[in-house]
Amino acid sequence: MCGIVGYLGSSSAQPVLFDLLKRLEYRGYDSAGIAIMNESINVFKTKGSVDDLISVTPDLKGCSGIGHTRWATHGKASSENAHPHCCDTDKIAVVHNGIIENYIELREKLINSGHEFRSETDTEVLPHLIEEHYNNDLESTVRHALSMVRGSYALAAISSNDPDKIVVARKDSPLVLGLGETDFFIASDVSGILKYTKNVIFLNDGEIAVISHDGVKITTLSGKTVDKNIETIEWDAKSAEKSGYAHFMLKEIFEQPNVIRETFSGRMSSEGVNLEVAVPDARRIIITACGTSYHAGLFGRYVIERFARIPVNVEIASEFRYINPIVDSNDLVIAITQSGETADTFAAVREVNLEKSQKFSIVNVPGSSITRESNNIFTRAGPEIGVAATKSFTSQLAVLLLLAVQLGRVRKKMSTACVNDFVYELKQISGKIQQVLNEAHHTKECAQVFADSDQFLFMGRGANYPIALEGALKLKEISYIKAEGFPAGELKHGPLALIYDGIPVVAIATEGVAYEKMLGNIKEIKARGAIVIGIANESDTEIKKYVDRVLRIPDANPWISPLLSSVVLQLFAYYVADCRGCEIDKPRNLAKSVTVE
Ligand code: AGP
Repeated sequence: MCGIVGYLGSSSAQPVLFDLLKRLEYRGYDSAGIAIMNESINVFKTKGSVDDLISVTPDLKGCSGIGHTRWATHGKASSENAHPHCCDTDKIAVVHNGIIENYIELREKLINSGHEFRSETDTEVLPHLIEEHYNNDLESTVRHALSMVRGSYALAAISSNDPDKIVVARKDSPLVLGLGETDFFIASDVSGILKYTKNVIFLNDGEIAVISHDGVKITTLSGKTVDKNIETIEWDAKSAEKSGYAHFMLKEIFEQPNVIRETFSGRMSSEGVNLEVAVPDARRIIITACGTSYHAGLFGRYVIERFARIPVNVEIASEFRYINPIVDSNDLVIAITQSGETADTFAAVREVNLEKSQKFSIVNVPGSSITRESNNIFTRAGPEIGVAATKSFTSQLAVLLLLAVQLGRVRKKMSTACVNDFVYELKQISGKIQQVLNEAHHTKECAQVFADSDQFLFMGRGANYPIALEGALKLKEISYIKAEGFPAGELKHGPLALIYDGIPVVAIATEGVAYEKMLGNIKEIKARGAIVIGIANESDTEIKKYVDRVLRIPDANPWISPLLSSVVLQLFAYYVADCRGCEIDKPRNLAKSVTVE
């Protein structure tokens, strides 16, 4: 949530900052601003998108500056509340992602000392605090100011009294520095700077960096020098571009055959599955995650319990600490997260630190905060820019299948023959996803028929139940249609009351143990007037007798077909939203990475 950027180098800062902001816009898009250092600091900001900012900003000279794209927390979306925020003399400008928890108290003190505030934000206390304590050195003043602050921050500060520097700091919000030949970049995440450099330094909590033309100097908040590794990001810069697709979401849906190939690469052999981390044996597994990643976790429960016979609990990360979890060293906690920055998932992982249980994370973004708290299995989906998670979800499902097989083999719950058969099936997934994508026009045509509906229900059984939840989430987040997913067996316990004449219901009715029961559920809702869109296997000749429309997926092992159904549901949500003219990559009120609780 919120993207901060910065640049210092030999080129004009303005076009670089605009480009970085556009690349990070998925982190927040209700207002944006830049501050460029020339002899004084020039600040331009506006409510709206980065394009709106570009249209109101004149050509500015200067080779260093900072920028921000906002997702409002404290104070409405407005140009006053947009960052950068400045001190009274406009000699200091700050961009910030995070929350200053004690800002009310600090603000009152600063007002009593004569400072005048221009916004409702928590962030504005920072430039005033730096101004109040300015000692002719930006770095040490920022350090001093931060000693008075409680909360989370990734921030960048500039001062016209110290014009050849940008000072950045991090606590509980992501921040990465990109190192070019003579240019330095600052961004909230790596996908922002990939076009410019693959050499990066991830700042840790409690570290301050000073960027100048001489290089980058990093110290702790208490002033100790820190030697940091320069890491090389292997992601292809092109993977963060739209490459001719109308939306990132559509591009990312179509990337899935390659993504799944990459997720599996080097992890399957004639001996079975070899994930790069030694997965500890455990009496019980607790999976914790949010949103789409939580749905992947629910799927994980089905496959791990089935193949490895280990009991699995799946917990919403934002609730994890409130249930006062009973975990001990016999338990294995697995966090699932695309971004590796979700505040609630991060907090859950830290909660586990206190309990001393074993843990690891299934994560997409290398170098992200969570990766530094645990061992990791990377999903290798590449940068996901669309706010609606797509390829990250199927890559999480793919990793969970690998994990289930690995655990099943280690615990001797799967025979060698069984593992080999399953590995053979896994190897077919990419090709089958490609087949689903080749038939996308059928899903598009079906989506266009139902695009005006104001409610949808999604139902599935077994491992298809989490996929029904995910189908509903995809539709609601990008099309704003009320959509609910539920396990079909629960129909008679409540959801049946929602059925009325003409309501569209998506029923995942693929081959598996619950197939006949699903047909029974479809009959029940049809009898009450629902229009049913069935997702079924290619060879299913029965389904046409039960439903109004069929979306087909290739025949596949029932533990694998959820990946294929997921792709159909992503396409369905995409085309419905497109038909309704929604801003698909920038859904209302949402942002990609939820770094506040
Ligand atoms: C899904 O489309 C959403 N973007 C959201 O539910 C997301 O999955 C959730 O915020 C968790 O994010 P994470 O995987 O980065 O932790």
